Amino acid sequence: MANIVIIGTQWGDEGKGKIVDLLSEHADYVVRFQGGNNAGHTMVVEGEQIISHLVPSGILQGKTCFIGNGLVVDPEVLLKEIDYLTGKGIDVGPEKLKICEKAHVIMPYHKAIDHGREKLKGDKKIGTTGRGIGPCYEDKATRRGVRFVDLIAEEDFRERVGAVFAEKNFYLKEFLALDEIDAEEMMDQYQEMAARLAPYVTNVSVLIYEGILEGRQVLFEGAQGTHLDIDHGTYPYVTSSSTVSGNACCGAGVGPMEITGVLGIVKAYTTRVGAGPFPTELFDDIGDRIQKKGSEFGATTGRKRRCGWLDMVILRNSVRLNSLTGLAITKLDVLGGLEWLNICTGYEYQGKALNNFPASLKVLAACNPIYETLPGWSEDISGIRDFNDLPQHTRNYLKRIEELAGTTIEIVSVGPGRHETMILKNHFVEA
Ligand code: IMP
Repeated sequence: MANIVIIGTQWGDEGKGKIVDLLSEHADYVVRFQGGNNAGHTMVVEGEQIISHLVPSGILQGKTCFIGNGLVVDPEVLLKEIDYLTGKGIDVGPEKLKICEKAHVIMPYHKAIDHGREKLKGDKKIGTTGRGIGPCYEDKATRRGVRFVDLIAEEDFRERVGAVFAEKNFYLKEFLALDEIDAEEMMDQYQEMAARLAPYVTNVSVLIYEGILEGRQVLFEGAQGTHLDIDHGTYPYVTSSSTVSGNACCGAGVGPMEITGVLGIVKAYTTRVGAGPFPTELFDDIGDRIQKKGSEFGATTGRKRRCGWLDMVILRNSVRLNSLTGLAITKLDVLGGLEWLNICTGYEYQGKALNNFPASLKVLAACNPIYETLPGWSEDISGIRDFNDLPQHTRNYLKRIEELAGTTIEIVSVGPGRHETMILKNHFVEA
């Protein structure tokens, strides 16, 4: 039996959705454990693009999907997504989708505060997705949040919201110079949504535990990436949740001994959306070329992603922080046609080598990447399905990644479609 956590090793957008979609064929449960609709999974199924933000991508495989306690959920977005997926003929009923009663609810004031604060920060803005993620987690930590268990109990809901409402409106009006929110209108609207969502709300931790005892295999689907982690990322240019593998336990309500492996998703180069230092960022034609060829636009906000060379300081950081047991390399085809490729093997800071990722953003911004240059390949590899058919230079690139990361590659993806993949090891099948 295998219970695998899948996480992004870089700054998100590594292509987790496709790998989760692929591997969930062999899992029974697919569980999200952190974040919210700041995430965006783009999947291509039979030529059709499907984007999900909250519902785990395993839903496309007909698997039972869980939204764990660690998420912050916008009910409006969730209902729209349920309707969108249902319209595509996908079963998203309460038998297939379970929302944890302890997950937190994103309220309209969270979204307004997110936008208002970013606007106020001007140049210093984080570049958030504007979905209210940070303000909702903030209320969770200060114990002023609203959970799904409250949302579906009208009296409790009105009491919880009523307790914070005056303060929220004061802050919106007086500090952020935004319009106040009408409490009654908002509560009525949320109660309508609560009625639709109530059948989905349950104790996710208990259901997963029982499933594991019955021999079900679980895939824990991370969102964002390790370097957007609230503790271990490039703080403050991070998201507000813990994105590392350890949080699969906390955010889904399972004990650590249930996890049997951690697969780290690595884009064959590096991208980042939003602000913050990015040592291997490319500002030249190669960066533009990668951005265009890789269609590097955010699935949630449509923003252009910044592109750069593969950074092994970051990847080694992820290996350690997540106990990675294997790697999945994605978008390898995008690098085709480049005469040579750089891999960043370390940073140079003030004339000295720095092998570990620094906590200070000033230090990080002053780091110069140390590059190793490898020959590129001119062949289009997107049609290749057997690892041994990959050009020698492509295999050398992958081998070097394994050597520098100290971890083996289990999956290689050469295109967005399900079949454009080479699976070298699949824990769910072997289990
Ligand atoms: P927030 O999560 O909306 O608060 O945004 C905080 C930072 O995380 C911003 O730089 C966002 O661009 C980034 N971010 C949030 N979600 C994702 C994601 O799914 N992929 C990549 N970056 C993300």
